[in-house]
Amino acid sequence: MDKKGRFYGIGIGPGDPDLITLKAVKILSEVDVVIAPAAKNESLALKIAKPYIKCHVKEMDFPMICDTDALKKIWSRNVKTIEKMLSDGLDTAFITLGDPMIYSTYTYILSRLCGYEVQTVPGITSFCAAASRIGKPIAEGDVPFAVMPVSDEKSVARVLKEFDSVVLMKVSRNYDDVVKQLKHNSFKGALVTRCGQANEKLEFDLDRHLGEKIDYLSLIIARRDNT
Ligand SMILES: C[S@@+](CC[C@H](N)C(=O)[O-])C[C@H]1O[C@@H](n2cnc3c(N)ncnc32)[C@H](O)[C@@H]1O
Repeated sequence: MDKKGRFYGIGIGPGDPDLITLKAVKILSEVDVVIAPAAKNESLALKIAKPYIKCHVKEMDFPMICDTDALKKIWSRNVKTIEKMLSDGLDTAFITLGDPMIYSTYTYILSRLCGYEVQTVPGITSFCAAASRIGKPIAEGDVPFAVMPVSDEKSVARVLKEFDSVVLMKVSRNYDDVVKQLKHNSFKGALVTRCGQANEKLEFDLDRHLGEKIDYLSLIIARRDNT
């Protein structure tokens, strides 16, 4: 039987081209195909990884839509395309911002792919990079912390009651409410936008951006003020 290709999920870090692992660079320079999310121009993930890629890049559509049925169809179609490449013996790498196992499309592919050898290469997460940029630890000693995407008001309220240290991702969905809830629960924090990228912004006054449209690539790291 012909040899099947291996599938790699490669975390390429938050955006700073120096924050990519040696392992990711090695694999990107060795594979036969790299899959990148399709974008109008070039996706950010591809921009970061490009210097290390020596092969064909296949752009794949992963739209940011809420229709779960439509999304599942698209993921299944993309998995079929990937399976074809792997069956043809092509080592194939899927690049993803930050870490592949944290809120990444990669996991939807991974869970549908069956009968192929897979290797996932971790990347530096956006929130670890952001904590370094603002110079504030996320947790010390025995303090637990929560990482959550902002979805509904109730789940944010619940997490702010239970934890003294939080990382809130996807804050662009409901920034004003998140800031209100942080204040109400005596949290202080920083908004980090496009961490590690040329247009990175660090903001310690969360009120300053109330009522504004917040960039999707933004997160808040916050701690209860008495800790
Ligand atoms: C789909 S998740 C991807 C997370 C990514 N896999 C990781 O490990 O960081 C997208 C969310 O991650 C956060 N994010 C990703 N990259 C970022 C960056 N460079 N700066 C700030 N936040 C970022 C934002 O909260 C954004 O809404």
